Amino acid sequence: MRTPSTLVEVLLVLALFSCSPWTVWSKTLCKQTNLEEVRPHSVSITEFGAVGDGVTLNTKAFQNAIFYLNSFADKGGAKLFVPAGRWLTGSFDLISHLTLWLDKDAVILGSTNSEDWPVVDPLPSYGRGRELPGGRHRSLIYGRNLTDVIITGNNGTIDGQGSIWWTRFRNKTLDYTRPHLVELMNSTGVIISNLTFLNSPFWNIHPVYCSQVTVQKVTILAPLDSPNTDGIDPDSSDSVCIEDCYIRTGDDLIAIKSGWDEYGIAYGRPSTNIIIHRVVGITETSAGIAIGSEMSGGVSEVYAEDIQFYDSYTAIRIKTSPGRGGYVRNIYVSNMTLANVDIAIRFTGLYGDHPDDAYDPNALPVIEKVTIKDVMGEKIKTAGLIEGIKGDKFTNICLSNIILNVSSNYAWNCSFVKGYSDSVVPEACEPLKERIFPEHCSDCYYLSNHLRSSSNQNRGAWFMSW
Ligand SMILES: *[C@@H]1O[C@H](CO)[C@@H](O)[C@H](O)[C@H]1NC(C)=O
Ligand SMILES: *[C@@H]1O[C@H](CO)[C@@H](O)[C@H](O)[C@H]1NC(C)=O
Ligand SMILES: *[C@@H]1O[C@H](CO)[C@@H](O)[C@H](O)[C@H]1NC(C)=O
Ligand SMILES: *[C@@H]1O[C@H](CO)[C@@H](O)[C@H](O)[C@H]1NC(C)=O
Ligand SMILES: *[C@@H]1O[C@H](CO)[C@@H](O)[C@H](O)[C@H]1NC(C)=O
Ligand SMILES: *[C@@H]1O[C@H](CO)[C@@H](O)[C@H](O)[C@H]1NC(C)=O
Ligand SMILES: *[C@@H]1O[C@H](CO)[C@@H](O)[C@H](O)[C@H]1NC(C)=O
Ligand SMILES: *[C@@H]1O[C@H](CO)[C@@H](O)[C@H](O)[C@H]1NC(C)=O
Repeated sequence: MRTPSTLVEVLLVLALFSCSPWTVWSKTLCKQTNLEEVRPHSVSITEFGAVGDGVTLNTKAFQNAIFYLNSFADKGGAKLFVPAGRWLTGSFDLISHLTLWLDKDAVILGSTNSEDWPVVDPLPSYGRGRELPGGRHRSLIYGRNLTDVIITGNNGTIDGQGSIWWTRFRNKTLDYTRPHLVELMNSTGVIISNLTFLNSPFWNIHPVYCSQVTVQKVTILAPLDSPNTDGIDPDSSDSVCIEDCYIRTGDDLIAIKSGWDEYGIAYGRPSTNIIIHRVVGITETSAGIAIGSEMSGGVSEVYAEDIQFYDSYTAIRIKTSPGRGGYVRNIYVSNMTLANVDIAIRFTGLYGDHPDDAYDPNALPVIEKVTIKDVMGEKIKTAGLIEGIKGDKFTNICLSNIILNVSSNYAWNCSFVKGYSDSVVPEACEPLKERIFPEHCSDCYYLSNHLRSSSNQNRGAWFMSW
């Protein structure tokens, strides 16, 4: 064949000699609701005696307002309006069919007295608090067993004033695991949008045992060295859509989890159908998108597209360990742009970090069918550090069209993995060097050597229908 001479010809050749995604991907899958009109009733927090001076503790006002609004739950629900001001509060509980609305310049401030954050039971899938045995402080904004909950506004702020917690973590004076900013547990139909999250004591947004969760247009900020200030952590949750977010924190920006060792295995609730679009972020110590290390209930069907990470340690990371059990499979990352990132892709098979000594070292995780394609990066130190588990290879790891400007002499370092690659610069490590096209397209998640397949045509349809 003669050398192609025009761009069109080059593209045609590329299309003919590479696998295709299963379907043409629609870029707007999160549910769109007119949040202004959704509730027929509305009250302002000021009607319940709240004072927005940054000093008065308003926990009772939030509790009383929400208790009052309960009477509208079967009448279409209600909106709790938080106007401009600095509204100091301890932890409070949401109800079903509620919109918590933070106006422009409204700031909900977390109390700096840990007694305003009551201690609740550990999650059954963790068996104990994440950082200390026993219970854990309840999140600032909490909800359990709910349906139809919206936390939104005109870019108001939820500020956890986390620095006292970070200091107590560092000087080892915590009594219980630190609280999140927002935790929804066992809830369905959750929207969190149009807000800024600041200085969480621990993780920022934690949906756990939830279904149909949308996190949209949020800004999440915490100092780059603040401990464990993860951005958004979908945990044993399904049908989660995260889009148009900017996250700059001290730990993983998005971390998909599903329980911890024997507790997570016994609880057995996976995270699945997780969609991530248009996320931009910075993390100096951790990963832009992580899966694990708590993944004992399984993680599958994760689609991340149109992602940008810069000035960061790692972009994509899978963390697991013998003892975790569970699986990570059917993961698709596409169109990612990186700049100034130490390790673009990192898999860690021996993460360690167990809840107690009762874990089963023979409970080996299954890591398979991970496709990463269309990645461009500059100022990358290492392209991939991909470490599976001896006797438990990670398989069908597929890399396609990854072009990185790498400064280290060893661009890829792989062990106990097997997979395929096409158009990867610098060239992938030996265990991933075999070509994808044409023979291994179907071994790679979300790639096929047919131009179109109908097998997954309806993926994402739930976002439109509920
Ligand atoms: C949620 O449901 C569980 C199980 O039915 C129950 O034990 C718990 O008290 C409920 N919690 C709330 C806050 O409704
Ligand atoms: C989101 O916030 C912007 C301003 O920050 C505002 O113009 C817009 O109306 C908000 N959207 C919703 C749905 O509240
Ligand atoms: C919301 O506020 C944050 C922090 O002040 C700011 O960085 C962000 O640009 C704002 N977003 C919008 C949509 O106005
Ligand atoms: C640890 O930090 C907390 C919060 O700043 C402080 O109140 C406490 O005195 C410190 N304790 C020690 C032992 O340094
Ligand atoms: C979740 O809610 C359902 C139904 O209300 C209940 O049966 C279940 O026990 C709850 N689970 C938890 C962990 O709260
Ligand atoms: C890739 O993602 C960027 C945003 O990070 C977006 O601007 C661009 O349009 C995307 N490219 C394709 C081909 O979708
Ligand atoms: C890669 O980075 C080096 C040093 O920053 C630079 O000199 C070189 O031009 C870059 N190469 C490409 C292909 O961008
Ligand atoms: C690859 O990683 C292993 C373990 O992390 C390390 O011992 C080894 O030196 C690395 N090899 C190269 C060529 O970087």
